[in-house]
Amino acid sequence: AAPGPLDGRHVIVTSGPTHEPIDPVRYIANRSSGAQGSAIAAALRDLGARVSFVTGPATVPPPSEVDVIGVETAEEMRRAVAGALPADAAVMAAAVADWRVKNASSSKIKKDGSGTFPALDFAENPDILAWISGRGASRPGLVVGFAAETDDVVAHATAKRKRKGCDWIVANDVSPETGIMGGTENAVVLITDEGAEPWPRMGKDAVARELARRIADRIGGE
Ligand code: C5P
Repeated sequence: AAPGPLDGRHVIVTSGPTHEPIDPVRYIANRSSGAQGSAIAAALRDLGARVSFVTGPATVPPPSEVDVIGVETAEEMRRAVAGALPADAAVMAAAVADWRVKNASSSKIKKDGSGTFPALDFAENPDILAWISGRGASRPGLVVGFAAETDDVVAHATAKRKRKGCDWIVANDVSPETGIMGGTENAVVLITDEGAEPWPRMGKDAVARELARRIADRIGGE
């Protein structure tokens, strides 16, 4: 990586959705393009960091000159994050599916025309953000989570920061009328132990650069 304030620092970034199989051809997932995660990885790289980019099946391609670790499910993502430790910081931008299908079928489920439909049994996925935040000695010095909310953004994100045990939460309003989901702009509020700081609406690249700058202020060299 180029020399910069994050020279010699290692940052793990998760990005994209996870896919949880129902059968070999079907899955459940969250909506996520991976745009914000890719932009964050690129911005950290540009400040000199070595970036482990753990990505689910995103539509936006990963940036160049980062270590791309492609995964499909939440469990694979957790294992990939574990394998990338130790790190100086972790930014969890992935839209991880909260549940996986416990009774996933290894062969394609057939439409049998009987009028009865397959029932999905769900199990809870590991919360990777909460897990890494509670890692004790191998916890990255700075853990940043995201919170996509549709109402009471600051209140929900502040509670989420406490619940997950991370240092910062980047919260955004993803109500359909904002056009943020899948769009090029983002309007975020940074939640830290000092409170809630709303940032002006800007491009996802600009959000990424500002966040990378803040991370460098916190864990970087001079
Ligand atoms: O609880 P919620 O999914 O809204 O929290 C969002 C934050 O938690 C994001 O940073 C996301 O990447 C992370 N997360 C995770 N593992 C999960 C669920 C969410 O790392 N299973």
